[in-house]
Amino acid sequence: MNINGHTKVYGIIGNPIGHTMSPAIHNMISEALGIDSVYVPFVANDDLKSIVKGLFSLGVKGINVTVPYKTAIIYELYGVEPMAMEIGAVNTLQYTEHGYYGYNTDILGLERELKDENISLTGRDIVLLGAGGAARAVAFLCASKGASSITIVNRTLNKALDIRADVAAYAAKNGRFDLSSNVNAITFKELGSIPYNDITVFQCTNVGLAPDSEACVVHDSTFYRKVAVGVDLIYRPAETMFMRYVRSAGGASYNGLKMLIYQAVSAYEIWNGVAVPDVVIYDVERSLA
Ligand code: ATR
Repeated sequence: MNINGHTKVYGIIGNPIGHTMSPAIHNMISEALGIDSVYVPFVANDDLKSIVKGLFSLGVKGINVTVPYKTAIIYELYGVEPMAMEIGAVNTLQYTEHGYYGYNTDILGLERELKDENISLTGRDIVLLGAGGAARAVAFLCASKGASSITIVNRTLNKALDIRADVAAYAAKNGRFDLSSNVNAITFKELGSIPYNDITVFQCTNVGLAPDSEACVVHDSTFYRKVAVGVDLIYRPAETMFMRYVRSAGGASYNGLKMLIYQAVSAYEIWNGVAVPDVVIYDVERSLA
């Protein structure tokens, strides 16, 4: 890497930030494409107004935002892409002359992973395990891609109910009255009452994340027999307990590594106006797997 007076600076803000894989991914892509830029981590604090003002004054062209600022950052932006606004979370800021414009490339990343794996959401019965920020984004993606039902399962029912209300309203606003009345919120105790077979499940909790690799929010084999496709948003370990259960019951299972890489690739493409070639994406994936 040859940093000089023309090198463009990009970065990620969050707290904590030590675990982030984003600098590795972005710098690898810049190196492969020969683009003169560098991507660095910044530990942020709650004074997002000063942080955004400072980054803007310095002309930082692109910033990623991670936990716990993906929602609070919205108040500091010049504009937000409509889907990110519906979800209420932004993870990518692009410099414009008026201020930063916000995107949610987590969702673009998942969309690209699903496309890669030929997983369609249209007409599918979807079950989301968890009701945090990640589950919320996935629920909106499922609604926008024509899912036929969405069931949100969470330990804390109120959080599932909140997502249900917002997603049902979004579906109704878009003329999807069939889906609007088929968004459900339940706790894990009621999992046996799900009336659907052949379901697509997204594991959106952090249970099962390394080093707790043997943990899983659901152990019930009756449930797994109904699962055609299971996507775990976790990427460490490469095969989670949830994925093992899905595979053992005959379903297809996927981890969240591609989603992680594609959210970075999507941000990179927004910032640089280039399409990152598949061969580069493949190299990044291999180096992180
Ligand atoms: P993210 O932004 O990754 O979605 P989050 O907003 O903190 O993270 O959400 C974490 C999710 O994991 C929540 O659904 C949480 O359940 P609660 O809403 O009941 O807290 C779920 N989760 C975390 N630990 C859990 C556990 N031990 N058992 C069941 N669910 C758990």
